[in-house]
Amino acid sequence: MIFPYIGAHPTITTDPSERVKYRSIKGTKDILPGDVEAWQHLERTIQEVMQTYQYREIRTPAFESTALFSRSIGELTDIVSKEMYTFIDRSQESLTLRPEGTAAVLRSYIQNSLADTSPLTKLYYIGPMFRQERPQAGRLRQFHQYGAEVIGGQDPILDADIIHLALQVNRALGLHQFSLRVNSVGCERCRPAYRTILTTFLAERTAELSDESKARLELNPLRVLDSKDERDRKATAKAPLMKDHLCAECRTHFEQLQEILRHTGTPFEVDGRLVRGLDYYTKTAFEITSPLLGAQDALAGGGRYDLLIEQLGGKPTPAVGFAAGVERLLIALSKQNSLPGISPGPRLYIVALGDAARQWAFRKALELRNKGYAVEMDFLGRSIKAQMRDANRSQATRVLVVGDNELAQGSFQLKEMASGQETVVSESQIESHLG
Ligand code: HAM
Repeated sequence: MIFPYIGAHPTITTDPSERVKYRSIKGTKDILPGDVEAWQHLERTIQEVMQTYQYREIRTPAFESTALFSRSIGELTDIVSKEMYTFIDRSQESLTLRPEGTAAVLRSYIQNSLADTSPLTKLYYIGPMFRQERPQAGRLRQFHQYGAEVIGGQDPILDADIIHLALQVNRALGLHQFSLRVNSVGCERCRPAYRTILTTFLAERTAELSDESKARLELNPLRVLDSKDERDRKATAKAPLMKDHLCAECRTHFEQLQEILRHTGTPFEVDGRLVRGLDYYTKTAFEITSPLLGAQDALAGGGRYDLLIEQLGGKPTPAVGFAAGVERLLIALSKQNSLPGISPGPRLYIVALGDAARQWAFRKALELRNKGYAVEMDFLGRSIKAQMRDANRSQATRVLVVGDNELAQGSFQLKEMASGQETVVSESQIESHLG
């Protein structure tokens, strides 16, 4: 017997929730058939745009040593202090599921001496990231980012290249509603003095601030400006901004970036309050938001991090990059009804009745699949009627009917599902009808 399992129909329960013993972890999601096609479309589009901008893909491990992330992202950030999935493995080493891609890419860049191959390295990545945040629409604990980093140059034209890349992926996906905000967060020369000015300003208004901002006051005062809380907004309405306290080098860099963006016809807004949630930025910081998203409206964020590679043990090397949330892009695209449909059904469905016909159908299906045609058949020993229903459900373009008589005569009925037109064909003619 070639199909011993045929006839073993699974029992379908009427209330599946009663039978589920294990559920996915809060803040994680299955990507099911029907949804995965949109992911594949998005991944293909990203790969195409990256190719046109000449960024090459890099894939790094899902976990790294904890110190890599705490050192790069900053001990005092929300990510490192509250959100990392950190664990001690069986060798007593502290490991962390990557909360973002940049640190790992730089670790790999240094470890594999990528600088030796080219003075400018342009890399991109797509993959899962992990942060233990409070799950809500557009905020997950396992989410996906695609991102890009250009390592080795400090010219603001590279900041513009990275920004254009992020915008171009949105456009290539057919997304219409998004906007770009840029800022400069200064450098190690101008930021300390500004920080003192800002701290003095905030100290006089402590009572008016939200509890979260009060807690941030001493350790991370710049983030108070970024708060969405109305009390903080009001209290800091007249706060001094970093962009007005930049050193000459940072100011020139920021002005040149704006000039390039204007020259290349990119609408943007300068937002002096934009402060990113990661500590490694110097000079440029930017975010792309979309009104199609709810409270979590950041589609992408990034900026320049000229000191980070040296901090991680590499040679002093300037760099700039960004990352975007894949789930958020998909939410925005679905709000616009711009997601692609599900993948097409088989070109041919072989309806077979009887053991000999099933053996023939299986061999024929393999032969045609190996030539590149999508072919499906029945694997559950169903009646002809049920097989026809299944062919319909799977959106097959054509159906070939095979029984003992057809095999004996060597002629088969081929039905075009859209028109209902039926043709009698010999075995050797089947392929030429698949179009
Ligand atoms: P980030 O702003 O932390 O930057 O994350 C980038 C994007 O990832 C966000 O704009 C958002 O779309 C998405 N995202 C972040 N957290 C979540 C979450 N919990 N659920 C769903 N989506 C989320 C970075 O990660 C930097 N590494 C970007 C970068 C690259 N800067 C320079 N190079």
